[in-house]
Amino acid sequence: MGNIGAKEVPPLFGADGRRVDGRHLDELRPLKVTAGALTQADGSAYVEWGLNKVMAAVYGPREVHPRHLQENNKAIVQCRYNMAAFSVDERKRPGLDRRSQEISKVIAEAFESMIFVEEYPRTSIDVYIEVLQANAGTRCAGIVAASVALADAGIPMVDLLPAVAVGKVGGKLVIDLNKLEDNFGEADLPMALVPQSGRLVLLQMEGHLSRDELSSAIDMGVQGCQSIYGVMQQALRERYAPTPAPGAP
Ligand code: CDP
Repeated sequence: MGNIGAKEVPPLFGADGRRVDGRHLDELRPLKVTAGALTQADGSAYVEWGLNKVMAAVYGPREVHPRHLQENNKAIVQCRYNMAAFSVDERKRPGLDRRSQEISKVIAEAFESMIFVEEYPRTSIDVYIEVLQANAGTRCAGIVAASVALADAGIPMVDLLPAVAVGKVGGKLVIDLNKLEDNFGEADLPMALVPQSGRLVLLQMEGHLSRDELSSAIDMGVQGCQSIYGVMQQALRERYAPTPAPGAP
């Protein structure tokens, strides 16, 4: 959204009303989730979502580092979201900038509200999210990957946590913005939903939406999260209860 007013806005819809990448307003980018992509971590997942490629690894519950963060009555959830230096085409300074710190914090808080942290006092559950290739929506892709990685690690949680952004582009609400839409859109509203209770544990907003638009955007995001939820469940099913090949005994 940083380019509003700075550059001429390119066409964001075709003559047929479809988006630049051919999608309908409420259509998600192709999403592929693989549970258990790493062998070393306690739990892991790899997500390809549009042009985003994101790996998540989970360790824990384990000893708390640094020690002074330890809580006597619950586990703490620590998250590190990081964009690889090669994940974007302009040069990105490696390491944790303010944006990464903010994203890490909101993701940790979202998971802390879903994990049964009281069951593991004096421990840490460490969530690592590495963005290998970025094309907008990486915090949501990171949440999807981390959530499947937490389930893969056997961490007890109330539910999985699908996430998606809804935005306003050329005056229209669209789901799951790509980089061009994110750059030239008027608003971006990432959210993460606990599907079975309907609770939103993450909701951020950049740009401006009217009250009615906000309400429609949330409805659109909730719908999107329900179908992302299906893909996440399927990834875990494929890892833990794969369907036998046709003709197998
Ligand atoms: O990725 P997400 O949409 O959650 O976060 P954002 O801050 O809205 O960033 C949108 C996109 O801008 C990222 O996904 C990257 O493609 C790009 N970006 C970048 O090129 N360089 C950065 N230092 C940060 C973001």
